[in-house]
Amino acid sequence: MTIPELDFSSSLDISPESLMKQAGEARDLLESRKCPGNEFLGWMDLPERISKSSLEDLQNAAKEIQKSESLVVIGIGGSYLGARAVIEAIRSPFAPGFPVYFAGHQMDSFYHSELLRLLSGRRFSVNVISKSGTTTEPGLAFRLFWNDLKKHFGPEDLRRLVFATTDEKKGSLRKLCDSAGLKSFTIPDDVGGRFSVLTPVGLLPVAAAGLNAVSLMDGAREMMNAVRGKNRLPDNKNPALLYAAYRNAAYAKGKKIELLTSYQSGLHYLAEWWKQLFGESEGKKGKGIFPAAADFTSDLHSMGQWIQDGERSIFQTVLDVKSGAILPVPTAESDDDGLKYLEGRPLHEINRTALQATVKAHSDGGVPCLRIVLDKITEQDLGAYIYMMEYACAVSALMLGVNPFDQPGVEDYKNNMFRMLGKPGYAG
Ligand code: PA5
Repeated sequence: MTIPELDFSSSLDISPESLMKQAGEARDLLESRKCPGNEFLGWMDLPERISKSSLEDLQNAAKEIQKSESLVVIGIGGSYLGARAVIEAIRSPFAPGFPVYFAGHQMDSFYHSELLRLLSGRRFSVNVISKSGTTTEPGLAFRLFWNDLKKHFGPEDLRRLVFATTDEKKGSLRKLCDSAGLKSFTIPDDVGGRFSVLTPVGLLPVAAAGLNAVSLMDGAREMMNAVRGKNRLPDNKNPALLYAAYRNAAYAKGKKIELLTSYQSGLHYLAEWWKQLFGESEGKKGKGIFPAAADFTSDLHSMGQWIQDGERSIFQTVLDVKSGAILPVPTAESDDDGLKYLEGRPLHEINRTALQATVKAHSDGGVPCLRIVLDKITEQDLGAYIYMMEYACAVSALMLGVNPFDQPGVEDYKNNMFRMLGKPGYAG
């Protein structure tokens, strides 16, 4: 694993330097465990807290899942985005191997009925994930898939096919899985949803998808040591602190929107995971950068105009991955398509040139661009990146003066919905 390099050369007049002292103070507050939300700091030590035996237990469950035909991962927000991010970043989009489907991350009836139609009567596994065990979307999806499995399989098979990941004691899912005798994994009390990818929440689906959960944790551990270990990097080389300081400096200059852009389609969900992490951690008390994401170069053909020329309230964080697949542009007899000048050049190099050209165009147009350069996309690199972003997020939110670990605003839509649907206790 190499530490991602942060390149500020196109970040215009925004630099992390002016806020490094504040970033260091926020880090000290976090490390002293006296910060707001300090009951949810378990994520900080996960890479060294996970035991060999619990990793083995997860891997055995993953093997059991792979004996079935496919896996449905049921969860929403922090209970599915991290796993989906890792799985889609690494596996081939066209020959992904063991089929993994996602459900309960929304309530679209067409999506769920089509997935049920595809799987009904087949021997599929389910991993239902909910920290609270009471969330409506995954609760409903679980009822749908459980109902289908029960029609075709007896209790013994169901115990082989269904795995729950939830709180040790609380919630309806805990009750349900205890009464059906299902195999369950626990989400530690001191780890919040969006910080839970490095627990069984993310590790079981990742392992079931045939990826290396141990390497993911190894990468996270290396990053943990680099950003906060005994021999941690100096602050001016610490990527998490630099990133937290930089984005707060951008915010102080009126840049209210951060656009995370990547040039690899497999990284779409890594950006979705990042959006939740920062959006839910920082958007409080009328404050917080709005985290947005775009897939380039696709979105340059839809959002490029706005970014180049629209309101200057935006800054861009660009994920730049050095290595790519080997795919040179083939030679052709004629130059009818006008692409002769690209012959023999690797597609990945052309894509990275597009990245450089876009960074130049956007920074010339007044959009500060920070480049985060990753060597490659492996489980280990992703584990490191995930840990780095979690640490940066906690520091950044503390710099902003909000509790990084709660999400009081999420309840409002739920209360309205429950009242409208007539949930007992919500009338009036
Ligand atoms: O970060 C959070 O806590 C939330 O976004 C949750 O991840 C999300 O709401 C899902 O909650 P649960 O895992 O309790 O079903």
